[in-house]
Amino acid sequence: MNQKDLLSIAKDFGSPVYVYDADKIISQYNRLTNAFKVNELRIHYAVKALSNISILKLLNSLGCGLDTVSIQEVKLGIKAGVGPAKIIYTPNGVSLEEIEEVVKLGAQINIDNLSILEQFGSRHPDIPVCIRINPHVMAGGNSKISVGHIDSKFGISIHQMPHLLRIVENTGMHINGIHMHTGSDILDIGVFLHASEILFEAARNFKELEFIDFGSGFKVPYREGDIETDIEDLGEQLTDKFEKFCKEYGRELALAFEPGKYLVSESGKFLAKVNVIKQTTSTVFAGIDTGFNHLIRPMFYGSHHEITNISNPDAKPRFYSVVGYICETDTFGNNRRIGEIREGDILSFSNAGAYCFSMASNFNSRYRPAEVLWYNGQAHLIRERETFEDLTRHQVEMNFDATSSVE
Ligand SMILES: Cc1ncc(COP(=O)(O)O)c(C=O)c1O
Repeated sequence: MNQKDLLSIAKDFGSPVYVYDADKIISQYNRLTNAFKVNELRIHYAVKALSNISILKLLNSLGCGLDTVSIQEVKLGIKAGVGPAKIIYTPNGVSLEEIEEVVKLGAQINIDNLSILEQFGSRHPDIPVCIRINPHVMAGGNSKISVGHIDSKFGISIHQMPHLLRIVENTGMHINGIHMHTGSDILDIGVFLHASEILFEAARNFKELEFIDFGSGFKVPYREGDIETDIEDLGEQLTDKFEKFCKEYGRELALAFEPGKYLVSESGKFLAKVNVIKQTTSTVFAGIDTGFNHLIRPMFYGSHHEITNISNPDAKPRFYSVVGYICETDTFGNNRRIGEIREGDILSFSNAGAYCFSMASNFNSRYRPAEVLWYNGQAHLIRERETFEDLTRHQVEMNFDATSSVE
């Protein structure tokens, strides 16, 4: 998928528009599966990153399972044709009723607090459960996505193991998996390896394990020369540790991961049109036909997305602040060197596959954009742009009589 292809997608499907390159998703999946040479590797794609059904179908066709955090994601996965046995459900703070509904759908459940574990185990001792452990490791690219530390709401503290074991023993429940996820954008594989030791230690307490799930957090590059997780190095070192653990444990277990960003981040481009060039006393703004309603990561996490002017790729670069059309400050990038921008040009944002469309909203009553999948050298529309009917569909209108107002 080159810049000419992207320009013709913007022309044919309008802007703003999300475009995903299927080849990149496939090559990331293959790279990951080749890196871990274990007896059984289970990759569960984190649906929250990008939940379009066609993306789920593509991953399913590769043999990938799903990691879900809501019953709606489970249902989307099943609708996409993924077998429920290949879906793991790792919610946080949901009700027992929702967990029981998911069990009925056939997915593997992962429980991350002692209260629900006790209630679930008392009611359904025969249904196998995975346990999310909080290993108290500080990892992750920023505070919002660091989830394995001592102050985090996620997981059952490793220090609560005696209480956890008492619940398991008293209810007679079966623990078939043990899990951790310490954060996204982890820079150092040493963090994974350190946390894996803690998880192995915890795993020794359970005799019926079928899998160990190391979550995700693989770092992808956002700009040239950026650090990324050395997946081959991690593969070699973790495989070695895992095999040693399985020998001691006395049984071959499956090794599981649940990557989101790693599989889809780099596949995505977000295309937007420049509505206005505004020169002020301090900068030149390029105002585009979108805002944080469609791509919130720069404002929410301070994340970096490379911005290229695909309408004027060979032009001399100049400095711009690229901003949206929302009624609040929504700066996508300050002082960016971008090929000279003219009104009407199309800008392309990189790393737009993960946590971009899936975090989009209708703020300012704008329509959410279309999504396109580039597959086998062709553009396929996989989500239509919303329309005015979508904005009003679930609103229930009241009528007021102006003459009968309350005094
Ligand atoms: C439990 C869990 N698993 C997997 C992921 C996916 O992480 P990433 O997109 O960094 O691969 C997340 C992200 O929030 C998560 O919370």
